[in-house]
Amino acid sequence: MGLNTISDHILDILQNSMDSGASEVELEIAERSGEEFYFMIADNGRGIEAEKLKIVLDPFYTEKKKQKVFGLGLPFLKQAAENTGGSFSIESYPGAGTTVETTLVLSHIDCQPIGNLAEVLVSALTMKDNVRVLVERVNGESGYSLDSVELQELMGEDFRSNPVKMKKLYGFLEEAERALRRN
Ligand SMILES: Nc1ncnc2c1ncn2[C@@H]1O[C@H](COP(=O)(O)OP(=O)(O)OP(=O)(O)O)[C@@H](O)[C@H]1O
Ligand SMILES: [Mg+2]
Repeated sequence: MGLNTISDHILDILQNSMDSGASEVELEIAERSGEEFYFMIADNGRGIEAEKLKIVLDPFYTEKKKQKVFGLGLPFLKQAAENTGGSFSIESYPGAGTTVETTLVLSHIDCQPIGNLAEVLVSALTMKDNVRVLVERVNGESGYSLDSVELQELMGEDFRSNPVKMKKLYGFLEEAERALRRN
């Protein structure tokens, strides 16, 4: 399993939220170039019971039981963040939703590269047509925000499946990310 970049982790955690039965998923990314990378993913999905929450964070649990009960997405992210001296937290309310917050210290030698954020954001915004996705992206003093409902009004119903529209969206996000890097 190749979770080699911070973007890979974001996509993995987003996938959890998309699978949670949520109608709304919020993604916040706040960076200080070369210093710190914070992201938060919050959904209003089914949530995780307290007992299960303890188990899903333990990467060795499934090995002891000699069967794959849960995946490794959450423990891998926790480890990736803690390896940099950063932090990881997950808060979940059964029936109400889940919030994952992570800070990675970019200046730490063990920090993974950020990867392709524009690609992750296109995936986030086009993953499911019945889930509203809100993106808040900040680097230092600059940033932008996106709302999949507004995008749909702007680009048309088929922006999630029409290759020309998806390419346009990707181009827009690539440019927005480039602009943030220039600051
Ligand atoms: N946002 C969420 N809402 C509800 N349940 C969740 C959420 N995130 C994680 N879970 C539960 O925790 C489990 C573990 O998640 P984790 O990402 O670690 O592994 P996974 O998604 O099962 O597999 P993978 O290795 O492919 O990510 C999930 O299978 C799911 O049951
Ligand atoms: Mg997962």
